[in-house]
Amino acid sequence: MKYVKLSHVNGLLEMPMVGLGTWRAQPEEMEKALWAALDAGYRHIDTAFNYNTEETIGKVLKQWFSQGKGKREDLFITTKLPNCANRACDVARFLQMSLKKLQTNYVDLYLIHMPFSFHLNETNFTPLTNEDGSFSLDYDSDLIATWQAMEQQVDQGLIKAIGLSNFSGEQIERIYTAARIKPSVLQIELHAYLQQNELRALCRKLGIAVTAYAPLGSPGANNHFNSKYNYSIHDFPDILGHPLVDQLAQKYNKTPGQVLLRHLIQQDIIVIPKSGNSERLKSNIDVFDFELSREDMEQLNGLDRGENGRIFDFLFFKGVEKHPEYPFKHRIDGW
Ligand SMILES: NC(=O)c1ccc[n+]([C@@H]2O[C@H](COP(=O)([O-])OP(=O)(O)OC[C@H]3O[C@@H](n4cnc5c(N)ncnc54)[C@H](OP(=O)(O)O)[C@@H]3O)[C@@H](O)[C@H]2O)c1
Repeated sequence: MKYVKLSHVNGLLEMPMVGLGTWRAQPEEMEKALWAALDAGYRHIDTAFNYNTEETIGKVLKQWFSQGKGKREDLFITTKLPNCANRACDVARFLQMSLKKLQTNYVDLYLIHMPFSFHLNETNFTPLTNEDGSFSLDYDSDLIATWQAMEQQVDQGLIKAIGLSNFSGEQIERIYTAARIKPSVLQIELHAYLQQNELRALCRKLGIAVTAYAPLGSPGANNHFNSKYNYSIHDFPDILGHPLVDQLAQKYNKTPGQVLLRHLIQQDIIVIPKSGNSERLKSNIDVFDFELSREDMEQLNGLDRGENGRIFDFLFFKGVEKHPEYPFKHRIDGW
């Protein structure tokens, strides 16, 4: 395993370059996948308050520790503050709920999951929706105040590093400028069709490590958008099935997934592929014994579709584009 040394933290904190994604994993799948992942050598787990996987992760890890297979400090755990709790007064209690479910007394990385904010349904800790199905936008939330509340949790020893997810360049700079503890990590959608060169350059300048979510293009996401939000993306991309990816997989005697992950890792990008399948889990972490040539890297760089490659624009949250902190305005305005 290779690691990225995080900046803006107290002491040394190294983030394994391959982590286990857990979005959409159902409890039984999650339990089996995490055991298989730990056996395969995964030591980095990516979850979030709203994935509903924290509880299962906590349960498996408790058993893993008690069987003497590893210690808490061997692991890197990321979780996220949900978009319905994006306010200073909610940070401590939502972090506490995550820690309790994960059965740990700290997380390695805590991210603001999304820059826009919804009102909270206190009965089930989900976003409030209006009668027409649109999401109830919270215009009063203040990202800087939320960030300062996260800094206090670092001071308390409950978080090692703090970061952002799905933020635009302008939003990252705004937080960075105001922050006492600067963001260590930015987690964004990043794959061969959406290579995020501008945001990556900004992060390099600010000493922020980049994590790629949906590194394989999130096959299956469209079904989820459809069944949960009755929303679907036309011509949903099949990056794993691109002929170049297939050709390189044959050339290096690797799988298409390994080629896509290696393309990112070779550029110092952390990846968090999700799989519930033990063979795919193993292959997704087995990406350190080959190197793509400069020419092949350039060919893969050429697959970038810029904004047209984006899958996660969050428009399945009906009305979200009206929130002043919606980060992808250019998609709506047609820039
Ligand atoms: N911050 C955010 O807003 C945000 C948004 C989305 C995701 N994330 C995080 O990023 C993680 C990864 O993103 P993602 O789950 O959307 O997409 P992904 O990792 O790109 O793709 C996961 C899908 O690919 C399949 N798969 C996994 N390995 C494969 C391989 N080697 N070959 C072929 N298919 C493979 C999986 O199916 P099987 O399970 O059947 O293998 C699953 O359906 C998430 O799980 C979550 O932790 C964060």
